[in-house]
Amino acid sequence: MHAEVFITAQSVPEKETGTQVVVAIDVLRACSTIVTALCRGARGVVPVPDLDHAAKIASNLDPSSYLLGGERGGYRIDQYHCGNSPLEYTREVVRGRTLILSTTNGTVAMHKGRKAERLLVGCFLNIDRVVEAVCAAGRDLIIICSGQQGQVSLEDTLCAGYLLDKVWNGAPPAGVSDATRMAFALYDSRRHGLDAALREGAHAQWLASRGFAEDVDYCFRFNALPVLPRYRDNRIVLDKKELSRIAA
Ligand code: MLT
Repeated sequence: MHAEVFITAQSVPEKETGTQVVVAIDVLRACSTIVTALCRGARGVVPVPDLDHAAKIASNLDPSSYLLGGERGGYRIDQYHCGNSPLEYTREVVRGRTLILSTTNGTVAMHKGRKAERLLVGCFLNIDRVVEAVCAAGRDLIIICSGQQGQVSLEDTLCAGYLLDKVWNGAPPAGVSDATRMAFALYDSRRHGLDAALREGAHAQWLASRGFAEDVDYCFRFNALPVLPRYRDNRIVLDKKELSRIAA
């Protein structure tokens, strides 16, 4: 399978995300928040690239039907209901509501991938479910790592490398881009002791030092929420099959 990794959201040209399967990755924390909110009963998540988009969407909705969530600089945005900690999104908070989410990098990456035929949301909480869907689709794959304001982030790149390792059965094909080869090589060099490698990342350390250590532990739990969030009609949802899996 041909696969291409963009190691930051900013490095994705618009034209790159047309007919392929795209996986947007933001381990810390936007994708982990989305997976969690959907598993706790959110009706859908609308990822927006900035606050103006969020306000515009909210202005057309019944105030009891949505939550505004997101962060700037890691902290909840003023006047928003919730921040970007997945642990805030309990069943009581999100059930039956649409989450309009704006984050510094993660929702920007999703916005970049929105024109893909299939845009999936991936993080360690659901990574093997994403692997399964990508392999079943059998299409060219684009992975968009959110990164940090145009800089590479270790946890997203390791997650991309993990995904590549699985879809390629451990052996990269010829002709892949350098960024793609680097993501694979990074994962390959740290596959034993991955948890320790993840904790070396600057964003993981920053979050832990600012009181978000529980978020970091949570976001590094492999396959704790094995669902497949998918972008459809401007929002990220779980399809009926996914919903019945989590209800069972
Ligand atoms: C982002 O989109 O930049 C992140 O999810 C930041 C965060 O940890 O809140």
